[in-house]
Amino acid sequence: MSDNFEDRAREALAQPQNLGEMNDADSVGTVGSPDCGDMLRMWLKFTEKNGKKVIDRASFQAFGCQTAIAVASMATELLKGKTPEEARKLKPNELSGDLGPLPPMKIHCGQLVEQALKSALDGKDTSATKPPETLAGKINQAPSGKIKIVPLDEKSEA
Ligand code: FES
Repeated sequence: MSDNFEDRAREALAQPQNLGEMNDADSVGTVGSPDCGDMLRMWLKFTEKNGKKVIDRASFQAFGCQTAIAVASMATELLKGKTPEEARKLKPNELSGDLGPLPPMKIHCGQLVEQALKSALDGKDTSATKPPETLAGKINQAPSGKIKIVPLDEKSEA
């Protein structure tokens, strides 16, 4: 990995991990940033390990900037094997994994991933949700019927 954040993000973007809808997800969360208008949706699949509920897989779709995509790619990899409680405690600079700490201007991009993860952890079972047939349908269809807009600046201070 490169020394420079932008280069590391570019490297991650060249081969994004876990990109795309998960048809057998147990839960899903969608958030939008009121600051930049970007959106991120995350799917989670759980399993049981040593008697504990843990994240088996995570995937995402992003309608946003490259940093959000790079962080989501890293985050969906490092979430594997985490309990919901462990996942909920992860901060943007932890979710960014090998990308390293986010530059100040990019913190809100990591917060978008953090909030999508929290929304997915709060989410309900989507196994009965029929997948939309078009990309426009995917963008417009929020699994719970609405999209939660989270003011990232306020949340980051919570
Ligand atoms: Fe909007 Fe990065 S600029 S999430």
